[in-house]
Amino acid sequence: MADTKKHATLTIGDDSYELPIHSPTAGPDVIDIRALYGKAGVFTYDPGFTSTASCDSTITFIDGGKGELLHRGYPIDQLAGQSHYLEVCYLLLYGELPSAAQLEAFEFSITHHTMLHEQMVNFFRGFRRDAHPMAIMVGVVGAMSAFYHDSTDISDERQREVASHRLIAKMPTIAAWAFKYHIGQPFVYPRNDLDYASNFLRMCFAVPAEDYDVNPILSRAMDRIFTLHADHEQNASTSTVRLASSSGANPFACIAAGIACLWGPAHGGANQACLEMLEEIGTVDRIPEFIARAKDKNDPFRLMGFGHRVYKNHDPRATVMKQSADEVLELLGVEDNPKLQVAKALEKQALEDPYFAEKKLFPNVDFYSGIILEAMGFPTSMFTPIFALSRTVGWISQWKEQLGDPQMKIGRPRQLYQGETARDYQDIEDR
Ligand code: SDX
Repeated sequence: MADTKKHATLTIGDDSYELPIHSPTAGPDVIDIRALYGKAGVFTYDPGFTSTASCDSTITFIDGGKGELLHRGYPIDQLAGQSHYLEVCYLLLYGELPSAAQLEAFEFSITHHTMLHEQMVNFFRGFRRDAHPMAIMVGVVGAMSAFYHDSTDISDERQREVASHRLIAKMPTIAAWAFKYHIGQPFVYPRNDLDYASNFLRMCFAVPAEDYDVNPILSRAMDRIFTLHADHEQNASTSTVRLASSSGANPFACIAAGIACLWGPAHGGANQACLEMLEEIGTVDRIPEFIARAKDKNDPFRLMGFGHRVYKNHDPRATVMKQSADEVLELLGVEDNPKLQVAKALEKQALEDPYFAEKKLFPNVDFYSGIILEAMGFPTSMFTPIFALSRTVGWISQWKEQLGDPQMKIGRPRQLYQGETARDYQDIEDR
């Protein structure tokens, strides 16, 4: 916990209460209200946690005003441009960039944990073929706690480490097999001679009749997408993982909870919703109609891939993603992709519109990612599973940090009760 030399004074009626203020290494000060209910008998009220810090953390920092995202202090654009996903995983998990030897050992461990227990194949076969891959991922990841009993004891540091590596290593296999099952093709097993992103692409697109030669530019773009989604402070799914973990649940159950939360279209499901929106818009001349709908308070439609709880400037991940989209589509010879043209025109028109400017709504990480993924050959249903695969290291790093926090308690918010006060039961004859 940072220093607490400053205090806030809260006055309620004739009483005043001093509340410590903690100053961070970056970002706003926080007012420590933990003792408030005990002292003053009142709760604070913050639905959606717009002004609430839920924990201490040293992993990721976001400055929404500047559009800055740091992982252990390193800017996301530098990591996306100069590092690679497994090195970023090491950084998020252990706090520092690895030495060559540390990176080699880490990559060896991840590479040699990519296979699933063969009996888990039965789990996939239990789903309908048209099951959404996210439904399969939630089920299979939760089921890992029934197969990897030797890494579920959260009080054992070695078991926490093994579970962390297993989850990072196996998520590409689980996501790829969910995809293969969905399209009715046989599972393709991971290979140890491929890097993390290439292995994932091959498991998705190879078939027994024909192997898949991974284009290095596509695997680099895939790796960059993993990095851009790796962690993002205390977002909804990460907070879900932390809350689940606070009860002592095993890591596989906690990550399954995070996957379930990420699925929503307001969160990780926005990349799929965004591409479906671009498909619905269809042509540039229809953009004004959809911008008008997004501004209409009586219309629930929102521009998917736009806006963010924290960023009130450009999402730095969207900037990198847009550059990557240009590169990948040019490589694939589809730079005139109609969805990319609509996306660029939509971004331009929205950013010129006073509504979006006043509300500080900018494209977020989900606005361009789907265009790249679709160009790579993924159906929209695979966009959020790829987000979940990428975010697993962030969830696990935050889970690990929370378990090491001496202040950790079970998360148990209170409420502003607006229901009936006590009343007596009435027999049915008297109602
Ligand atoms: C992710 O938290 C994270 O870090 C998440 C994430 C991560 O890496 O983990 O960054 C990943 O989830 C990115 C966001 C993906 N979601 C979408 O793209 C869905 C579309 N966006 C919106 O649903 C919305 O912007 C949210 C959910 C992202 C943020 O919602 P907030 O912070 O609760 O903001 P809000 O709903 O209170 O909106 C503020 C105002 C409202 O207008 P008023 O009621 O004040 O008049 O802005 C409007 C909103 O109506 N608004 C939009 C809009 N987003 C907000 N209007 C039109 N289109 C939009 N997209």
